[in-house]
Amino acid sequence: MSARDPRLVGYLQRALRAEITAITLYLSQAHEALEWGLPELHARLLQDARDELEHERRIVAHLVHEGIAVRALDLPPLRRARSPEELAALSRTFEAEVVELYDDAAEYCRRFGHREAAELFEALLDDERQHLASVVELGGAIRAQSGGGSRG
Ligand SMILES: [Fe+2]
Ligand SMILES: [Fe+2]
Repeated sequence: MSARDPRLVGYLQRALRAEITAITLYLSQAHEALEWGLPELHARLLQDARDELEHERRIVAHLVHEGIAVRALDLPPLRRARSPEELAALSRTFEAEVVELYDDAAEYCRRFGHREAAELFEALLDDERQHLASVVELGGAIRAQSGGGSRG
């Protein structure tokens, strides 16, 4: 019943869209990394896409459990990075937006007593904060490497 709160349904649909976007973003970036001849970055980004798939699974499970239609809005256009530095910067912006979305959603659900959805958004928020920290670290590592000069 509480799941019929239209704002809650809106948050869940935005969450689903964010996770589908994340999966696609990291798969695209994984293949960009491969084009640049960076197999380690490729493997890391494939794993990131798998982690985001697990987030999508949890959101879909919640939607199905609550009897809410599983639908997402259109995928936003994904910008293609021209360098590993730009790749990390785009991911950082994206993950920061997702952190903000889940922070708002968790806060809203706590305030209006949507306990299960609040737990879901809090768990996702924890993971996304780690993703954000991890892409910030990746950006630093890439800058440190490229600061050395040569890149293959
Ligand atoms: Fe995610
Ligand atoms: Fe993420």
